[in-house]
Amino acid sequence: MPFIITDPCIGTKDTACVDVCPVDCIHPRKDEPEFARTTMLYIHPDECIDCGACVPACPVAAIYDSTDSTPPSQKGLIEANAVYRTGDDAAVSKAEQLVQAHVAAHADLMAVPPAERAAAHAK
Ligand code: F3S
Ligand code: F3S
Repeated sequence: MPFIITDPCIGTKDTACVDVCPVDCIHPRKDEPEFARTTMLYIHPDECIDCGACVPACPVAAIYDSTDSTPPSQKGLIEANAVYRTGDDAAVSKAEQLVQAHVAAHADLMAVPPAERAAAHAK
């Protein structure tokens, strides 16, 4: 069960999660060219070893510990995490399309400041 980054990362991209991940499965890193282009960061589902280190590291509680625990409003971002690949333009574009669809469908959540968005997921 991979961990999932969700929409508090949009507008935050803190990258503390990248610094604590022991297997470098969270991308794009700040030193990758895709960083400027992406709206949020993504966890590679096959590379994540479920260590849990990223969850407390994120200042806006954007990361859930499984697809099952990802709230209903965030389910569309599970696929975005899954398809993103650094160095693959088509995969980057597809992930970003899924994020933009999420943004368009959840204007209510996007109106909430990122730091308060995770609390709003439960409502
Ligand atoms: Fe996965 Fe987060 Fe660890 S992405 S490998 S649970 S730091
Ligand atoms: Fe995003 Fe939180 Fe990581 S804001 S980049 S998931 S530390």
